[in-house]
Amino acid sequence: MAISYHRPTKIVVDLQAIQQNLKNELAHNQGKDIFVAVKANGYGHGAVAVSKAALEVGVTGLCVATIDEAIELRENGIDAPILCLGIIDISVIPLAITYDIAVPVATLDWLHAANEMLTTTPLKLHIAVDTGMGRIGFLTVEEVKEAALFIEQAPAMTWEGIFTHFSTADQEEDMYWQKQNQRFKEILEHLPRLPHYVHVSNSATSLWHDDLGNMVRFGIAMYGLNPSGTAMTASYPLQPALSLVSQLVQVKKVPKGEGIGYGKTYETSEMEWIGTVPIGYADGYLRKMQGFHVLVEGEFCEIVGRVCMDQLMIRLPKPVATGTRVTLIGKDKDKEITLQEVADYLDTIHYEVICSFSERIPREYN
Ligand SMILES: Cc1ncc(COP(=O)(O)O)c(C=O)c1O
Repeated sequence: MAISYHRPTKIVVDLQAIQQNLKNELAHNQGKDIFVAVKANGYGHGAVAVSKAALEVGVTGLCVATIDEAIELRENGIDAPILCLGIIDISVIPLAITYDIAVPVATLDWLHAANEMLTTTPLKLHIAVDTGMGRIGFLTVEEVKEAALFIEQAPAMTWEGIFTHFSTADQEEDMYWQKQNQRFKEILEHLPRLPHYVHVSNSATSLWHDDLGNMVRFGIAMYGLNPSGTAMTASYPLQPALSLVSQLVQVKKVPKGEGIGYGKTYETSEMEWIGTVPIGYADGYLRKMQGFHVLVEGEFCEIVGRVCMDQLMIRLPKPVATGTRVTLIGKDKDKEITLQEVADYLDTIHYEVICSFSERIPREYN
């Protein structure tokens, strides 16, 4: 996809905010290795830049979802440990070895088939245990024991880790979290030996639970966003790193009774100043955002009419020069639009909002 550098719309990422969030997490979780989740292009912030900034402040490694995401990091000079969290096809194993990417194993069939492919350079494996997420991983202690034994005896396999993933760590009610934790604990107790990394924590588990691992898979809170939305307070301040800004490309005085946008869903009720902003649903700024607001010169301005593919219109309180900054997410003077507010308006979670911003929007770092 062509990145639209010659348009004033951009995502601005504050790498110092990311580093500060990580420094707080490193202090909070002393003695544990932190692997930061930079999958989905660093949750929309830019995987390479975020990884480099995170490694500078002392995290150990990086988590991605696919082998291609890992290869992008390697091709950009990153040689830190990488763990791919998603199951890979057997045919992709040579790439995992070439690029030194640890991968999960979730079934015995996969393990046996993988073994057939291997020659000398060992494949690094993390045993995935499904304690109640219902996504990937072994369900029983017998299977986990068999997998562990098999890996230990296979000359071209290295047992690097064992992990599980919690489904309710971001909720106040912790009964189900306790149940998953107990299941994982029992599995660990049945193993004669543990690998180098035992990991169960995402951001929410790290912030709100005592976990039994020695490594953390830290994602959303690094980007300064509260994993629970607004339900729980983080134990240290989280600084959001992402702003979304643009500029007015046209401002016009529209007489009373005129339609704005496709379908004429908005009609001016008097003479109104209407501004056009070059961002739309093709950028991941969704049609449902109609009726929400942006900031111009420190004032909230309503998005009027339907959001188009590449543009949207806003109602301005007064005439404003073209080229004036428009803040869609972030601060302007004493006002702010947060990702949480956008997520609430869209009836979703901020994770989905940040991951939806398309590659067309350039990412700028400061
Ligand atoms: C297996 C796994 N671990 C860790 C994370 C990071 O989670 P969070 O961004 O909530 O910290 C994710 C993200 O979805 C994940 O799928």
